[in-house]
Amino acid sequence: MLVGKRGFGRAVVKRISLIECSPELATINTPRIAKYAILSHIIRMWIARDIEPRLQRSARTRPVVVLTGARQTGKTSTFLRLFPNHGFVSLDLPTEAEQAEKEPHDFLRRHPPPMIVDEVQYAPRLFRHLKATVDASRARNGQFLLTGSQKFTLMKSVSESLAGRADIAELETLSWPEILAALPQTALEMAIVRGGFPELHANPDIDHVAFYNSYLATYLERDVRSLANVGNLRDFERFLRACGLRSANLLNKADLARDVGIAPSTANHWLSTLEASGQVVLLEPWFSNRTKSIVKSPKLYMADTGLLCTLLNVRSEDALRRSPAAGAIWETFVFAQLRGRERRAGRAGSLFFWRDRTREVDFVIDLGGRLELFEAKWTELPTDGDAVNLDFVRKVVGKSRVASGTVVCRTPNSFPLVNGFRALPVSQLG
Ligand SMILES: Nc1ncnc2c1ncn2[C@@H]1O[C@H](COP(=O)(O)OP(=O)(O)O)[C@@H](O)[C@H]1O
Ligand SMILES: [Mg+2]
Repeated sequence: MLVGKRGFGRAVVKRISLIECSPELATINTPRIAKYAILSHIIRMWIARDIEPRLQRSARTRPVVVLTGARQTGKTSTFLRLFPNHGFVSLDLPTEAEQAEKEPHDFLRRHPPPMIVDEVQYAPRLFRHLKATVDASRARNGQFLLTGSQKFTLMKSVSESLAGRADIAELETLSWPEILAALPQTALEMAIVRGGFPELHANPDIDHVAFYNSYLATYLERDVRSLANVGNLRDFERFLRACGLRSANLLNKADLARDVGIAPSTANHWLSTLEASGQVVLLEPWFSNRTKSIVKSPKLYMADTGLLCTLLNVRSEDALRRSPAAGAIWETFVFAQLRGRERRAGRAGSLFFWRDRTREVDFVIDLGGRLELFEAKWTELPTDGDAVNLDFVRKVVGKSRVASGTVVCRTPNSFPLVNGFRALPVSQLG
């Protein structure tokens, strides 16, 4: 439910009469749900998302647009806001999901395009029938806008049934530039601890610890239980916490499995569940024919620092400053910003890390052979010493291949370091 969260009672009542006479609502097929959604956007601040232009373009050029991403990243709200004239149905409602799965013809007759179908993973069989409907008027774009929080199953369904007809986009939590554009006064450390879930920024009164506790409970109950066939939710939660403790470290599945007391095959399965539901992101090492980093395993990161801080019991900016995990949390934050940067630039698969037996550079962006190197350092005042690994890797891969080397830190202003490297505030990553 999008409305009715604490503190909104009065405003809701006052605005309902305004909504009742909104002409926009007359065009919506399921007025009740859509009304709540629109209501929520009127009474709350809307934080503009970088992905909006891309979604609008996709809906103009493709018959189907699929938006994946972790629970509560804003998938439903973003579609409802961008496409107010589409119908809306959520398969979160068991009766709708059942009809979509068992009587897809009737379901699609009741919900004809243009239509937003929310939480589509609850009716995997619907996809084949979507295809038939889409193909009946193939030239018509933006017919179905689908959301779901299970990336891999959605991608599989799309490639099996809607290949060539659908564009898939992923929504992550708010990036630092998105937060700053909407709320320029936000302190960096606060944004790290609170994390990027839009609701926490649209409504600063929400207690983030309570938010994440309920987020975790819902995630485990709804997503993990139903989709991953996980036997023991408590073990899964411990597994998630163990992943939190290892954010920004090399992935060692055997270690993880041993710590939690589960079989390695279970660890494998659970890790891909966390990845598929947008909670964990794996980063691969950079390779090339001439020179390569020797390490083969990926690095593991939590997708959002808010959930990470909750898992690590870091509940305030002060606790963050005192935490021995501050460096790992910072690296997790910088990684999220670099993912945002690459997405905005329209690049996929460009981000890596570099590591051999002795040295590591946190992030490598491969721009078709030219490399940008990044070190994440929690410090406010980096020194030349913070650039030694950048220098080392530049020598290994060859000076001509390295376009730049940057220490991303908490400095307020950018400044040069040795050998042409520079220190950069995270807000200026671009
Ligand atoms: N861009 C945004 N600006 C302000 N609030 C937002 C924004 N996106 C989402 N929200 C709020 O965050 C919460 C979760 O959004 P929702 O769309 O339900 O996420 P999802 O569909 O990904 O689970 C809702 O309370 C919604 O109002
Ligand atoms: Mg939703």
